[in-house]
Amino acid sequence: MSAPAQHGKTEPLKASTTVLIGAQWGDEGKGKWIDSLAADAELVVRYQGGNNAGHTLYVDGKKIVLHQLPSGIFHDGQVSALAAGVVVNPAQLVIEMERAAEFGVTLHPSRLWLSGRAHVITPWHVYLDEQRESRSHGAIGTTKRGIGPTYSDKASRSGLRLGHFVNETSRKRWLQQMRELHPEFNKVLSDRHEAWAAFEAAAARLAPFVTDAETHIRTAVAAGKKVLLEGAQGALLDIDHGTYPFVTSSTTGSAGACQSIGLAPRHIGACIGIAKGYVTRVGAGPFPTELHDEVGKSLATKGQEFGATTGRPRRVGWLDAVALRYVVDVNGLSGVILNKMDILTGLKEVKIAVAYRHPTAGELTSMPWDTEVLEACQPVYETMPGWSEDIPRSGKIADLPAAARHFVAEVERHIGAPVIMVGTGPNRGDALYR
Ligand code: IMP
Repeated sequence: MSAPAQHGKTEPLKASTTVLIGAQWGDEGKGKWIDSLAADAELVVRYQGGNNAGHTLYVDGKKIVLHQLPSGIFHDGQVSALAAGVVVNPAQLVIEMERAAEFGVTLHPSRLWLSGRAHVITPWHVYLDEQRESRSHGAIGTTKRGIGPTYSDKASRSGLRLGHFVNETSRKRWLQQMRELHPEFNKVLSDRHEAWAAFEAAAARLAPFVTDAETHIRTAVAAGKKVLLEGAQGALLDIDHGTYPFVTSSTTGSAGACQSIGLAPRHIGACIGIAKGYVTRVGAGPFPTELHDEVGKSLATKGQEFGATTGRPRRVGWLDAVALRYVVDVNGLSGVILNKMDILTGLKEVKIAVAYRHPTAGELTSMPWDTEVLEACQPVYETMPGWSEDIPRSGKIADLPAAARHFVAEVERHIGAPVIMVGTGPNRGDALYR
């Protein structure tokens, strides 16, 4: 299936290797953009996270949510890869591959590279995540997909890598080790036998696709192919630079792409961030610009702000330029795509947080490292007139109504990076360009 011709020009892919990340707390609408920009790419690589992500795409008017497969999978002749930094739920990946096949996507090992180095999410890890989240203290509001426990096992060197999972002898050896290591493991084996059966069955299905993906990716980069490196979640959920502990367990930022693939930073040509014209967050954690009023409710309804993976309602707030500037700096963003601008249409006024006010520290103009400090901050807003005119679905940013243009200009001024594209609707072609 080829990308429809309606999709516009793709300036960010002028660089041969581009990283595309979520620039807020996830759910910025990356799926649509990655799918659209991927039309120009020869290889699309997902570099972290697992089936905690949910990228919603509309292909030929039909909705599909991808959790693990790169969003570029719908483009003919293109290669998709999951690199070492990803965690893979095998049974869920098989379901997704079958779903993609219903959309006419023929998956072949020459078109889908699954890294043998990627770690495997097992029913045991899902169990551990659920246990942790059910405690009255310390819940993070995770997706309960086993992400944290899988990355924990990887770091403590007791994880199962995909290359070993598809090998029956290695898989059985790992299972035996886990039985010896954890007294509870046997109980989880028998309580969740259906999940374990699906887990076992997935091995044969995935085996042909498991390969040394990183070497293939480096070869493609060296050959000057157009490569798109796709982040999941968002930069503020990064394990090191996000709002710890209310983060995911991987390196969601642009540097994560290099580490996951084993690709030297000098090969990265451009880093692009996707942000919404407002902010959402799922799960717990600080959110200075969160709205609890009618404006927040209307943005949530109009923007259909429900998690693509868990269906949870997302928390909604005004665009936070302090946080976004921090993300621009941490990730070296050369440009930002401002998505879902159409959702702001019709508001009497629109706001951007340009600083924080802390009860004792006073006004802060940069993002504090301490999540408790951030929790105590109130936003300092710049308020601007809204716009009621419909914004054009496609064309140029210059075609926006004057008030919306002013909003975009103020965002650029405060974050120190250009807005290179504006999202105006859910379809691939719904975009304004410079
Ligand atoms: P985990 O990644 O399931 O461990 O969840 C950790 C935090 O990241 C929670 O606040 C989740 O809601 C959040 N999170 C994980 N994946 C996504 C995503 O794809 N979009 C938005 N938030 C996410």
